[in-house]
Amino acid sequence: MTPPTRDRIDARAKVTGAATYSADRHLPGMVYGHLVTSTIGNGRIVAIDVDRARAAGGVLDIFTPDHPLTFASGLKGLAAVFAETRLPLADREIHYHGQIVALVVAETIEQARDAAALIKVTYEARPPKSSFEEAKRDPAPPPVTDLPLGRPIRKPDDVDIEAALRASAVRIERTYEVPPRHHNMMEPHAAVAVWEKDRLTIYSGTQGPVAHATELATVLGVQPSAVHVISPYVGGAFGGKAFTWAPSMLAAAAARALRRPVKVVAGREQLFTVTGHRGASSQTLGLGAARDGRLNAIKHHTISQSFVEDPGYRTTAKYYATPNLDIRLLITPDMNLPTATIMRAPGDEAGSFALESAMDELAVALGMDPIELRVRNHLETNLEGLPYSSKHLEECYRVGARRFGWSRRRPRPRAVTEGDWLVGMGMATAILDAGRAPTTVTVTFRPNGIATVANATSDAGTGMLTVMAMIGASALGLPVERIKPALGDSRLPVKGINDSYGAVGSAATATVTPAILASAETAIAKLVEHAVTADGSPLRGADGVRYENGRLIAAGKSIPFGELLILTRTAEVEAQASSADLDQSHAYASYAAHFCEVRVNRWTGEARLSRFTTVVDAGAILNTATARNQITGGVLFGLAAAMCEEGRVEGDTGRISNANLADYLLPVNADTVPIDVHFLDYPDTRLSPTGARGIGELGTVGAAAAFANAVYNATGERVRRLPVTPDKLLAQEAHGPADAQSARRGPK
Ligand code: MOS
Repeated sequence: MTPPTRDRIDARAKVTGAATYSADRHLPGMVYGHLVTSTIGNGRIVAIDVDRARAAGGVLDIFTPDHPLTFASGLKGLAAVFAETRLPLADREIHYHGQIVALVVAETIEQARDAAALIKVTYEARPPKSSFEEAKRDPAPPPVTDLPLGRPIRKPDDVDIEAALRASAVRIERTYEVPPRHHNMMEPHAAVAVWEKDRLTIYSGTQGPVAHATELATVLGVQPSAVHVISPYVGGAFGGKAFTWAPSMLAAAAARALRRPVKVVAGREQLFTVTGHRGASSQTLGLGAARDGRLNAIKHHTISQSFVEDPGYRTTAKYYATPNLDIRLLITPDMNLPTATIMRAPGDEAGSFALESAMDELAVALGMDPIELRVRNHLETNLEGLPYSSKHLEECYRVGARRFGWSRRRPRPRAVTEGDWLVGMGMATAILDAGRAPTTVTVTFRPNGIATVANATSDAGTGMLTVMAMIGASALGLPVERIKPALGDSRLPVKGINDSYGAVGSAATATVTPAILASAETAIAKLVEHAVTADGSPLRGADGVRYENGRLIAAGKSIPFGELLILTRTAEVEAQASSADLDQSHAYASYAAHFCEVRVNRWTGEARLSRFTTVVDAGAILNTATARNQITGGVLFGLAAAMCEEGRVEGDTGRISNANLADYLLPVNADTVPIDVHFLDYPDTRLSPTGARGIGELGTVGAAAAFANAVYNATGERVRRLPVTPDKLLAQEAHGPADAQSARRGPK
């Protein structure tokens, strides 16, 4: 069966500008907050002179550590683990360059910015500790939390990994470096906050309206039910809007203090520091194999800037079978850097770069095809021994190899040239944990013949809104046009009931769609009951009333539900239901095989993407158009890490020196090619009745390795530090091929 496909139902609103993002909100009496950030990387504020700024036109107030806003407490729960725990303007200490030191609120945005320029901050500066290269020399075990991140994994418990590696016929050991990376979603963090007595309404783009409301309630010291988050459109998030950051906290607190609606929009440069980013990591991979390629030992030791990035646990624990496994994470001491948080495929992006590069290096050492090496080490169960629910990774390899033309690949580097361009092919595996959470959906039949399907999840560009409409339509037997999906509002599905998981962990579709099926069933039963019992119903008292495609049918009558509601003078028939819990008897993951072709200029070292094929096994594909879009975006997100993205920290100041979109390089259309995305479409009905697994992050996983492996195949140069830039390729060229170097040095 061909999977369904449909363009985004909100596409027109988005391209015509009709879609209202947070910063587009204009409320009567609204005033503007402008963030002022520190110009030192470590130290303390000695004095803040705001006198001139306060006297400037239109200024209402200037909040600083000396005149702070009122917060009740810092973030709690997961947010305290994955986001900034220090409240803004809490004290005079400066922990990193770009930390918020003041919020200027004025009648207009221009007045706020103008006044901000008049603030004089005197600092006592200390040398910042901002170098990951230095910090990684002195790592320590991560804090203990109830999360699995950071726990050493050793199988068997007493494995001597070094001995197992030594006992392997062929072994490699390599270190891979991943720099900091910033989300840089198109829409910056923005919030418009307004209080009515002690209740807050806040328009703030978020991946999880309920979580955002709960976190804001915690920091503001009010009941979660007193905070209403409205976020129908989110201009990209990638993990950067999963938790609550200072801009929305400050907008809310300032609006409370000033009794005016307040808008705060973080500037593009400020996004690099006042919100989270992906921290740097350094990973050492040791792989030991028999001559036939079977892995005897896998060692994956990581030093991370933040335990959020645990690539060993996230990646290596679930890729390949081996009798000897040793995964460890250490983290650097606190550095004077902005706070690290989750970012699309946290741990997995970095981990798959390291593991899948190392597998490529092992394939070279074995003289074996990289696909064959992976197939020989196929994994059937997870670490706990649970079988995977539905895994067609080997078919991904086969189908991908055929579509891509892998058989034309020449294993020897520099074997294929086109003029000045060296042509290479590489591949990598992508695996991403799948799952879902229980959530409640409301389905409402209305007299106008429309049915509403509502949940508080978010559509951060994923296509969730469209998928909700499609699944609602198929569950109710209605055309998509007669479904009104609703999301992005913490009061959904109904005021007070809120168990929405939000759009995180590539699990929103698998979470929300089974609940749509369950509520549609409940709503239909309620509608039938209504038809049989309601005053004015032509079917009152009838036997065997059934619902079919929007109509109630019995005794030779067929009545559209809209008409029934009109006849019975009923405004709505509404039902809620929650999805069942996840079946814990299996492990769940999505899979893809990536194939990449690059052309590297022999003289300039410029590596250009020329082809990319990915074959995806992510369960049922509920909407090919938006699923393809997610995979394409994910692949480009991963390739961006390979090609150009890198947050650069200036050593003596701790300043992020490329904190803007001119210097922080992102791939543009000219850097990309159409990505060939193919779905296998095996519904994972054990995961959920809709059979869909996650796809939001999967494309990102492994993409950088596929690119770097292709560069190796093209040039014979192995780049182990992202991004793969010309300077690295040319430097290695000057010193001889990477493998020759390590052969001289011998194993570490
Ligand atoms: Mo994603 S990093 O789970 O928002």
